[in-house]
Amino acid sequence: MRYSRITATGSYLPERVMTNAELEVLVDTSDEWIQARTGIRERHIVRDDESTCDMCEQAALRALEAADIDANTIELIVLATSTPDLIYPSTACLLQHRLGIDNNCAAFDVQAACSGFIYAFSIADKFIASGAVKRALVLGADSNSRILDWSDRGTCVLFGDGAGAMLLEAATEPGIYVTRLHANGAYSSLLQVPSGVSKPTGDPFIRMRGNEVFKFAVNAMGSIVNETLEECGLEKNDIDWLIPHQANQRIIKATAKKLDMTMEKVILTVAEHGNTSGGSIPLALDTGIRDGRIKRGDNLFFEAIGSGFTWGSVVAKY
Ligand code: COA
Repeated sequence: MRYSRITATGSYLPERVMTNAELEVLVDTSDEWIQARTGIRERHIVRDDESTCDMCEQAALRALEAADIDANTIELIVLATSTPDLIYPSTACLLQHRLGIDNNCAAFDVQAACSGFIYAFSIADKFIASGAVKRALVLGADSNSRILDWSDRGTCVLFGDGAGAMLLEAATEPGIYVTRLHANGAYSSLLQVPSGVSKPTGDPFIRMRGNEVFKFAVNAMGSIVNETLEECGLEKNDIDWLIPHQANQRIIKATAKKLDMTMEKVILTVAEHGNTSGGSIPLALDTGIRDGRIKRGDNLFFEAIGSGFTWGSVVAKY
């Protein structure tokens, strides 16, 4: 039996920070409302000339530096994004070239909105567990500010931009205990960017029925806790850290409660990052590793929900 394990991480946030006070000028909102309903204080926004691939490059370079390995030893790139630089080629292909990788390794994007990193993580784990590759670069990144309607207070206060990268490598001991992926397209209208390539509608911005998304998210994140722990045979108190998708502090609190965890055991970045979609989990993971909270041997519970709806979880030993 082959296993995969997390060997290194890296992340990147654009330099420009946008506070809630700045949003008060754009729409009818308040810092107090945003913080009370979401936990968000500020978010990072890409420069006009900065792209998802640019952010991924920085995050990947930091992960490669942490692992102290040559980029050309990477055998697979899986990149989760809903805001690619181009329609094609994939951002993963652009990134492969940027990193100077010329070994013809497979590289592709995964689109599962805010659950994208969980999907990418799961796919890379299966490639390694099957013996197909030994070292994978897994990324999640989004430039949400490009698809925000800055006059819609129901969405523009929630999102931010950022990228995270993780190296996943073959191991002899279990590193990833379980991955669970779900989708239900019946809910597609509750959270979507309505204008697509084959069906242009003229509305290229995030549209959301926030309250209905909130209710589904709390239920889905609650039920995935039991389902995931049951499958990997761990108890709630075996989990050291919850590393959730960072959409809303209230959804995260409800999930932590399901795990009987105090908020001290949750890696929380939503206040400073907002919802960075695909970027949020690898950004939170890298934050917890670099500030020393997450240690080798800790059991990590990752979970996310996003447009689709898509949702999923991963339990891993770091
Ligand atoms: N500032 C001030 N008021 C706002 C506002 C804002 N930015 N956005 C909405 N409101 C208003 C609404 O218009 C509504 O006013 P009304 O009562 O006069 O009609 C009121 O606040 C309550 O709106 P509601 O949508 O019921 O609030 P809520 O408590 O559900 O909070 C969200 C709104 C968006 C914060 C919350 O629903 C949420 O987080 N949903 C999940 C979103 C999410 O996580 N999406 C990504 C998933 S990956």
